[in-house]
Amino acid sequence: MERTFVMVKPDGVQRRLAGRIIQRFEDKGLRIVGLKMIRMSHKQAEDLYSIHKGKPFYDTLVKFITSSPVVVMAIEGNQAVSVSRKLLGATFGFNAEPGTIRGDFGGSKGLNLIHGSDSPESAQREIPIFFSEGELAKYEHADIGWVYEEPERK
Ligand code: RTP
Ligand code: MG
Repeated sequence: MERTFVMVKPDGVQRRLAGRIIQRFEDKGLRIVGLKMIRMSHKQAEDLYSIHKGKPFYDTLVKFITSSPVVVMAIEGNQAVSVSRKLLGATFGFNAEPGTIRGDFGGSKGLNLIHGSDSPESAQREIPIFFSEGELAKYEHADIGWVYEEPERK
């Protein structure tokens, strides 16, 4: 099954939305295999957002993401990366469709509640910044056969 990295950002935790945001991923039938609240270090923030280094919003982004706790998650499922990005919605809350996390809960550029990997390669790079392999649970939900057809469970 494909893996992705998802994180409830500081505004999501501060606004007490972490539970409702996590629920969206469970509702979709995805499998949470790693979950913890952390205060992100400056080094982790620089690693996570290395592709944005030098952009005008980079310093603000790193300061914001390290300003208050976040909830980091490793999530598995059929096409977990693109499915999760659809659950997130467009980057800026004022562009995001209702029904998406960003569309339902925010209207800002930077305060956009949640991060999700933008490709399987990004997920493979991002997950180890926050989780050791031993921290990731290996299991199947008992109802997996009612969520995915057999070829989709690989
Ligand atoms: P994310 O990485 O957080 O999941 O968001 P994304 O892929 O939808 O957007 P990305 O282009 O990777 O940008 C990363 C984060 O930087 C902030 N941003 N601010 N002020 C701006 O123009 C601007 N552009 C991007 C957002 O918080 C975005 O989530
Ligand atoms: Mg991104």
